Amino acid sequence: MRLILLGSPGAGKGTQAKLITERFSIPQISTGDILRAAIQKGSTLGKEVKEIVESGRLVPDEIVTQLVQERIKEPDCRSGFLLDGYPRTIAQAEALEQFSAIDYVIDIDVSDREIIERLSGRRIHPQSGRIYHIKHQPPHEAGKDDVTGEPLIQRKDDTEETVRKRLAVYHEQTSPLRNYYQQNKAVRYIKLDGTKPVDELKKTIHELLTQHKEVI
Ligand code: AP5
Repeated sequence: MRLILLGSPGAGKGTQAKLITERFSIPQISTGDILRAAIQKGSTLGKEVKEIVESGRLVPDEIVTQLVQERIKEPDCRSGFLLDGYPRTIAQAEALEQFSAIDYVIDIDVSDREIIERLSGRRIHPQSGRIYHIKHQPPHEAGKDDVTGEPLIQRKDDTEETVRKRLAVYHEQTSPLRNYYQQNKAVRYIKLDGTKPVDELKKTIHELLTQHKEVI
């Protein structure tokens, strides 16, 4: 099962990705998480991309494509994987076609106005990647991770100004992928209303993917 989760920044890709990987035992490959981990480590890659990621622009296609290409060679990707945040440009989608087929593209659709509210309320547990929202998915204790009790943080690129920039980049460079995958007969493209509650979306996606598992 090889999946792509498409959607604007804050559409809920990471939230659904965690639920899909738990249920279907396939790894989540989040280019955003990989880049943020490199930044936190201060590696050569991290130093190269820090300013780009924190300002809401896109990292060059070749860098992210190489990261994904290497990652899906790992043994845990043998029975499938979930790409969260890749591809993000037509050039990345074309590059991906050279090294992997894709079964499903799940496009989570949310309006820009809702995105700004969502991202300003998002909190994350950096060590595990667990995602919360101060209103829609609050932790049991304000500001603390449910599992470890460690502090939650706000991402540097979740300020309103940077979110607006990320949305502009999304509309210009990533949203053309919707049409690209709709026209591609080799993949199943499914668009979902991302304003539905997390659990309802989860149920829809899981039903869809369970049918797929039964067919193959
Ligand atoms: P990345 O980390 O991929 O960020 P993003 O695509 O902007 O997506 P987010 O992680 O912000 O949002 P999400 O859709 O996962 O939403 P979430 O589930 O957290 O990329 C960051 C940066 O890295 C990029 O800007 C770029 O610089 C670089 N990069 C990464 N990949 C790249 C690539 N391929 N090419 C080039 N550069 C790349 O949910 C958001 C909030 O909403 C949470 O608080 C959550 O609790 C809440 N929420 C979720 N679902 C719902 C719901 N149904 N109802 C109400 N609230 C909800």
